[in-house]
Amino acid sequence: MTIVKINAITVPETGGDELAQRFAARAGAVDHQDGFEGFELLRPTDGRSTWLVVTRWRDEEAFAAWVSSPAFAHGHADAARPGADGGPVAVSSEVWSFEPSVASSPTSSS
Ligand code: HEM
Repeated sequence: MTIVKINAITVPETGGDELAQRFAARAGAVDHQDGFEGFELLRPTDGRSTWLVVTRWRDEEAFAAWVSSPAFAHGHADAARPGADGGPVAVSSEVWSFEPSVASSPTSSS
């Protein structure tokens, strides 16, 4: 069953665009990882400074294997380098874990 792992990244006000650019130029190393089902980078629109990287995986084992793999290191090789203002782009991050519970999508009416 699909699991959801969210990396919640807090960035200073000035760091958001830099974070988005880094993801736009990301390594792509995760894309062929066994059990990877996709990710989305979500930008806050309500004044918060926390961005969410929502990733989906086949199971806990697949996620754990990626985190300890060379692909994870490669995908994060530049993540710690200073941003345009000399400070780190991310000031903190934490991982949140979820599993799908109840879902809905619109039914098509024709
Ligand atoms: C120390 C904590 C982390 C920080 C500060 C961080 C930050 C970043 C940054 C800035 C990038 C853009 C690429 C780059 O600049 O090299 C990136 C890539 C990525 N991050 Fe993280 N990250 C962290 C941990 C995680 C975790 C635990 C997950 C999963 C829940 C995750 C998911 C991703 C994904 C899917 C990519 C794209 C990688 C690829 O294209 O291969 N990150 N991260």
